Amino acid sequence: MTWTKKDLLDIDSLSRAEISLILDTAAGLKEISERPIKKVPTLKGKTIVLLFLEASTRTRVSFDIAAKRLSADSISISAASSSIIKGETLIDTAKNIEAMRPDMLVIRHSAAGSPHLLAGRLSCGVVNAGDGMHAHPTQALLDMMSVREVKKQIAGLNIAIIGDIAHSRVARSNITGFTRMGAHVRLAGPPTMIPAGIERMGASVAGTVDEAVEDADVIMMLRIQKERQKPFLMPSEREYAARYGLNSARLKRIRPDALILHPGPVNRGVEISPEAADGPQSIILDQVTNGVAIRMAVFYLLAGGVRHADSD
Ligand code: CP
Repeated sequence: MTWTKKDLLDIDSLSRAEISLILDTAAGLKEISERPIKKVPTLKGKTIVLLFLEASTRTRVSFDIAAKRLSADSISISAASSSIIKGETLIDTAKNIEAMRPDMLVIRHSAAGSPHLLAGRLSCGVVNAGDGMHAHPTQALLDMMSVREVKKQIAGLNIAIIGDIAHSRVARSNITGFTRMGAHVRLAGPPTMIPAGIERMGASVAGTVDEAVEDADVIMMLRIQKERQKPFLMPSEREYAARYGLNSARLKRIRPDALILHPGPVNRGVEISPEAADGPQSIILDQVTNGVAIRMAVFYLLAGGVRHADSD
């Protein structure tokens, strides 16, 4: 197959071969970050604008680092430092940025579909860095890369995703990504945080967290997205930790070779205990490291770096 896409908007629009191409490209680029001089001239002369209109630490910093490691010029804009606070619309903001001829625009926005809207209006490449509760494609790609590094393949694995599924773009992108790559995805969490009909995405819903994690190869814990819950959908964080968290008691019952993932930011002691987050089964910081490689791969491919993928 040939890489032809101008934009990276979601996992749904990627074929299995395209996902494999991104993962393979990222695996090849990862060693650049281990060199004493962490820079190659691949995207010299390219300009990448990072428009982050929602809070972010990992995603914004790793997109910025990824651009710089490939020698692209990157410019970061936040809501507070842009003229959006003066009333300029998203489309006007994006069209004005486009008039300065960037090659790619990375956008994080609270409104689902905003990257898709811009992709249809802009000639530069658009990369979705998280849109509302809809999609976070580079997060799912870095999660798949992190799992594949340890488990060698994704097909056939049992993936448990636990927590606030309803408000999680990470969950949606990972359900699509892992099932497309041949894994079995099982979900669990408070009934108020499991959306009706989620099985249509290809995942199954377990009755309890223990049922979901007991034979899981991968356990992905999610943060309660309080900022998207009005009102808070649990009586208390303490009750949540006891019933749905990866706590010390539950940690003893999971498979010894199960990997523990979390997209961050972590609420320690709520969805995950420090023992689980920092223990030998956790690959949470490897996920962050791989985020740079995945975002380098996305920039490289969208800029036309690799045109042909090996079929999977
Ligand atoms: N995983 C993730 O999207 O983290 P940030 O919100 O810090 O970017």
